[in-house]
Amino acid sequence: MRDLPKVELHLHLEGAAPPSFVRGLAAEKKEDLSGIFSESGAYAYDGFVDFLRVYEAATSVIRTPEDYGRLVTTVLEELASQGVIYAETFVSPDFCGGGDLAAWREYLAAMEEASARAEARDGIILKGIVTPIRHFGPERAKAPAICAAETAGEWIVGLGMGGNEAVGKPGDFAWAFDCAREAGLRLTCHAGEFGGPESVRAAIEDLGVERIGHGVRAIEDLALVDDLAERGIVLEVCPGSNVALGLYPDWRAHPIEKLREREVKVTISTDDPPFFHTTMTHEYERLADAFGWDVADFAALNRVAAEAAFCDAGTRDKIL
Ligand code: ADE
Ligand code: ZN
Repeated sequence: MRDLPKVELHLHLEGAAPPSFVRGLAAEKKEDLSGIFSESGAYAYDGFVDFLRVYEAATSVIRTPEDYGRLVTTVLEELASQGVIYAETFVSPDFCGGGDLAAWREYLAAMEEASARAEARDGIILKGIVTPIRHFGPERAKAPAICAAETAGEWIVGLGMGGNEAVGKPGDFAWAFDCAREAGLRLTCHAGEFGGPESVRAAIEDLGVERIGHGVRAIEDLALVDDLAERGIVLEVCPGSNVALGLYPDWRAHPIEKLREREVKVTISTDDPPFFHTTMTHEYERLADAFGWDVADFAALNRVAAEAAFCDAGTRDKIL
């Protein structure tokens, strides 16, 4: 499983920071982050909202463009060792320069440079998806959208909103998504993770996204499932994340198999791998155990992911 070439579409950059990386930065900056780690040194949180708090506390020590460049290097080394050949990562101007465009350009330059070095060394390709944070509210989503629109191109390929789905409705963020669409960016949005099927429907209808982050709770409305299949909407499914956050009691209870059977385009990602004690290889192994999927199934799922990638056609040809 480890050697199988993998395409990962849903990965939060700060969420992929190993605890050792965050502890190292905290020591350099003389910050005490011991409260977010367990005795064994893993991230410690209790449920989704607390996870977001710990995520933001960890992110608080990833401060400078250089820190973000180092993070990209660290994350891509790990991904390449898992057989990942192409990844898209969520990155937020809220954390990289506070929404200021000039500052964002500096962060972006550092991340692009680290990404180019990893590609030259390991062949792994990384692209960025700018991420407004939903629980920061619709007004604060505008600055990241402008940063995305102004830097749309080779590396920044999309806009996708993460954060707490309980805050507001997708349509409240339409300005940000329209701004990105007009700049030629591709669109995705977290929905149907802690929100129900109506949240998935609203992201499609009110924001016009072509992919959905998670989307698994669409399974609670089979008419919606059939609609997703018919329209070719791609789900960025992160089963290990869903199990770790208590959405499903175990891997066999996860709806990815039922969604796939009803011909929804599903893909597999890790979301925030060290937070959920997972890797792409681990996801594949657990799915193989739960549903009897074999290498041919995973190769087919990777083709779906490559076709749904937001990169240009030349890059897609390299990973297909
Ligand atoms: N940000 C990081 N991980 C997330 C998740 N699983 N859902 C929503 N926002 C996130
Ligand atoms: Zn996510």
